[in-house]
Amino acid sequence: MALQLGDEAPDFTAETTEGKINLYEYLGDGWGVLFSHPKDFTPVCTTELGTVAKIKPEFDKRNVKVIAISVDPLESHKSWLGDIEETQGQAVNFPVIADPDRSVADLYGMIHPNASDTMTVRSVFVIGPDKKIKLTITYPAATGRNFDEILRVLDSLQLTANYQVATPANWKDGEDVIIVPAVDDETAKGKFPRGWKALKPYLRVTPQPNK
Ligand code: BEZ
Repeated sequence: MALQLGDEAPDFTAETTEGKINLYEYLGDGWGVLFSHPKDFTPVCTTELGTVAKIKPEFDKRNVKVIAISVDPLESHKSWLGDIEETQGQAVNFPVIADPDRSVADLYGMIHPNASDTMTVRSVFVIGPDKKIKLTITYPAATGRNFDEILRVLDSLQLTANYQVATPANWKDGEDVIIVPAVDDETAKGKFPRGWKALKPYLRVTPQPNK
């Protein structure tokens, strides 16, 4: 069965462009984003890896380690990374897993046979410090991902984890958030000293607590 939210993220050890890596050791006690690429030397993937490399400081700021995977072999990855630096103006600064036997791709269900037998789809898994899966997104091969959206979701996930708030539709960092229903008004008084606006008893809006 496909991995679902709340499942434990399967651990693995794999060859990467930065040497052999064990996933759990690499993530330590922080957050992680594991994302798959259909194939080396393909145009959309090339732009994606360059984009993630450029915004890596944004992941670092959030204590998030990024790691990419493509089912091609290590030698192919190494040669492709040169093209990425040349065309995207940025060297890839995070590991890319080589997965020629598809063991990691299979572990995470990244190959969807009715889309392609040989290439992975564009999967994204956000893994929490507890090693549980917090987010899955699946894009088709021909659509490049929106990594600003992934940063936005990370901000939301971290707010929920740290402050017991949820984020409304189209929320962006700095905007008001919602007190989760599990927090009653009495407890909320202590947790949200700036108060809240109750549009309904279940819809209590408060300023973003860490701003
Ligand atoms: C790409 O990365 O450009 C790509 C990969 C597979 C199918 C279509 C596009």
